[in-house]
Amino acid sequence: MLGVIGAGTMGNGIAQTFAAHGHDVTMIDADAAAAERGRAAIEKSLGRFVKKEKMTRDEAATILARVTTSTDYGTLAGADLVVEAVIEDLAVKRSVFGRLDEVVQEDAILATNTSSIWITEIAAATKRADKVIGMHFMNPVPLMKLIEVIRGHDTSDETTQRVFALAEGLGKVPVEVNDSPGFVSNRVLMPMLNEAIFCLYEGVGTAEAIDTVMKLGMAHPMGPLALADFVGLDVCLAILEVLHKDLGDDKYRPCPLLRKMVMAGHLGRKTGRGFYEY
Ligand code: 3HC
Repeated sequence: MLGVIGAGTMGNGIAQTFAAHGHDVTMIDADAAAAERGRAAIEKSLGRFVKKEKMTRDEAATILARVTTSTDYGTLAGADLVVEAVIEDLAVKRSVFGRLDEVVQEDAILATNTSSIWITEIAAATKRADKVIGMHFMNPVPLMKLIEVIRGHDTSDETTQRVFALAEGLGKVPVEVNDSPGFVSNRVLMPMLNEAIFCLYEGVGTAEAIDTVMKLGMAHPMGPLALADFVGLDVCLAILEVLHKDLGDDKYRPCPLLRKMVMAGHLGRKTGRGFYEY
């Protein structure tokens, strides 16, 4: 059995992906209502695949039946691997890993879906740093092929090999990168999104113009501002803050407009309003 901590956008996408490839999954959230919302998101996503005739209704039901939701970490005692996908906050992640280290069987792997925080620092909250690793999934998890695999300072070869085998079994492409703020994905993506926000902030173009330039000019599937809304403006800001602080270069400073929108609670798709209305 596999475990997922956090039933939000990434957590429920990871749980769905595990279940769609034959694994029983226990998805944990701090409160039962959030866990239920995560399960409903999985059902909705599977419904899109049924509508597109990528799977039958029965197959979707079988996949959903593999997902158990709970608020009790104790249900993870027998898990072979648990992926943490809670908010991008180091203290919260370290507390989750400390609890998992106490509860889960000793040869289980503890993975984090963090988008920017040092794996090594999260691993230090456990007594099994050799079994802690980054499994960075991409949103929307059921569709995106990449799993960015990040080794902490003490992650073992065996742990890395087990994670690669699991990722390939999920039909994903694992790519190993080194432990560094933002890894490769967000070290490259977030400054681009931030620059697009600066273009809007400085009046270089409208949101539609900026996104159309990148979609038609660079064949991006979504414009950078639409993508920031999709990822969540709070997530983008949290990642840029980590890059700015840990790499110590002002080129990562978050655009004031991004900060203001997050302060105002306009976080993108998840609140119905970001650079666009939803
Ligand atoms: N479940 C099932 N199906 C889904 C889905 C989901 N969650 N989301 C989208 N789809 C399907 C739709 O059913 C549709 O199927 P079709 O192509 O067969 O018609 C297809 O995907 C298209 O969906 P939409 O019409 O909603 O929109 P798009 O055509 O633009 O596709 C997208 C959506 C696949 C998200 C595409 O826009 C895309 O690839 N965008 C880029 C995403 C990206 O860059 N992700 C990485 C973000 S960075 C990150 O995650 C790291 C983190 O640390 C911040």
